[in-house]
Order: sequence, then C-alpha cells, then structure tokens
Amino acid sequence: MKIIKKSKELSDEVAFLKRNGSSIGFVPTMGALHNGHLSLIEYSNSDNDITIVSIFVNPTQFNDKGDYNKYPRILKNDLEKLKNVKCDILFTPLENEMYPTKDKRDFNFGNLDKVMEGEHRPGHFRGVALIVSKFFEIINPDRTYFGEKDFQQFTIIKHLTKLLNLNIEVISCPILREDDGLAMSSRNMLLTQEQRANVSLISKTLFEAQENVKYMSVSETKDWVVDTINKNPFLEVEYFEIVDEIKLEPISNWSDKKEKIGCIAVHVGAIRLIDNIRFYS
Ligand code: PAJ
Repeated sequence: MKIIKKSKELSDEVAFLKRNGSSIGFVPTMGALHNGHLSLIEYSNSDNDITIVSIFVNPTQFNDKGDYNKYPRILKNDLEKLKNVKCDILFTPLENEMYPTKDKRDFNFGNLDKVMEGEHRPGHFRGVALIVSKFFEIINPDRTYFGEKDFQQFTIIKHLTKLLNLNIEVISCPILREDDGLAMSSRNMLLTQEQRANVSLISKTLFEAQENVKYMSVSETKDWVVDTINKNPFLEVEYFEIVDEIKLEPISNWSDKKEKIGCIAVHVGAIRLIDNIRFYS
C-alpha cells in the first residue's frame, strides 16, 4: 500500500495508472475504520483494478466544534485494519493540503440538504460536498463507494456528480451492523459501556417498525418509534422521518409507490448516532 499525503503526487500517480488502462475506485473516509468501511473497500476491489482510500477528518463538515475535537483519530489502528483488505493507495492529507485557501463555494441541492441531517446540522452537507468535490478533482475515479448508513449523504453525492457534470459512478453499499444490530460507526467507540448496552434499542425499534407496517399507519409508526426510543433514559431522538429515497420528501401513506426509507438521529449523551431502515408495503 502506497501512502500519499500530497494531492499533486496523488494526481500524478492516478494519471500514470490510468495511462496503463487501470480502472480506479475511490472510498473516502474519516478514519477510525471499522468493518463497514472495509466492506466499501471490498466492493471497490471487486469492480476496479485499483482502490484508493482517503482518511481525512474534514473540519468544514462539523457544525459542532466539540464533535470535531473528539472525533477518533487512530491512524496506527487504521493502518493495521487496512492490512486485511487490498488498499492500493491511502491518501492522508493534512488540513492545509485540502484547504490551502478558504473555499467559498456553495452548492444548490434543492430539498436534499434542507431536511433531516441538513436541518439539524447546518452547513454539514456543504462541508461534505466541498471535500468530496476536491477529492473528485484530484482523483477523478471511475467509481466511488458510499455507505447507506449515511443515506442522505449518498443521495447528495449522487446529485453533486450531476451538478458538476462528473463522469463518476456513485455506488451505494449496504449498512454493516454489529451482532446486536447497532449500525457500525466510528462514533460507537466513544460510547460508555452502559450507553453501548442501551443503543441497540435504536436498530431493534427500526426493525420492529419495519415488521409492523401492516398494523400501523405512517404517522403511528413515526410516533411509536420516537416514543419507544425516548422511553430509554440514555436515548433522545432528534428526528425520525419517513421519506422517499429519491427526493427525500415525506411519505404519508404506505400505499405510496415510491421507495421508502426511515431515517433517524439519536442523542446518546454528547454522542449523536444515525441509522435508517427501508419500508416495504
Ligand atoms: P465516514 O463517517 O468515515 O464514512 C465513510 C464511509 O463509510 C461513508 O460512505 C459511510 O456511509 C460509510 N459507512 C459508515 N458506517 C458504515 C456502515 N456501518 N456500513 C456501511 N458503510 C458505512 O462519511 C464520511 O466519513 C465523510 O462524510 C466523508 C464522505 C469521508 C467526507 O468527509
């Protein structure tokens, strides 16, 4: 595995690989890698000759400075984890490499960044779009891999490639979960033992709601999910929305033919976790 810190060196390397006819897959991450991240790398390996992974804790997407400061940075561990998969190039730039000057760009995502995460984390998706568009400029991969764990982010990145006329295929990959159902996340390692024991209620409730569509309307489901999780003293729901998968607009009836997804954010003390579930009817 080649470790590169400079964007010029990375784009030269990619140009060389492309001249030799190699296809390039790209997996952006913020590190503290877990099996969810590694699964994206494996998807990339099965579609492409070369896989490039980035690890960069992107300051512009954190609306909460405390969250940015406590975000786990464990590069040594990450390098160990990467030994278990084929990662051809790891890009680990420093902040001034990615933001040599203030980037003032803005993006028009319509409704997509106004709802759910966008509503509760102002500026978050602008920061994600800033950094991902920079990575795309440097690498211009054939394909890029995003987890459905961050479903709204995946939708926005797909839109970003259209907005910027990029010929990059954005591929979504399923959520990897712990044995008790908790969606894997770098933030899970920040939970205390007691919190960790309680957070499995989030996915458990979502799966139960998915089973119960025959007995509950959309609005009953929304209330039931929020009430069930909030009854646990460790958990506080920030939002739970059931939306269509394309425009992220609210669904009001199960009979609606659109693909439906329920997205949730939950506060566990100072930590904020997200998850989602598909609804079929
Ligand atoms: P990060 O949270 O590190 O996630 C990197 C990628 O891993 C994202 O596409 C995310 O959806 C995916 N991922 C996280 N948990 C997963 C799980 N349990 N199963 C499957 N995939 C999972 O998302 C970001 O970083 C950043 O916003 C980034 C895109 C790198 C831009 O800074």
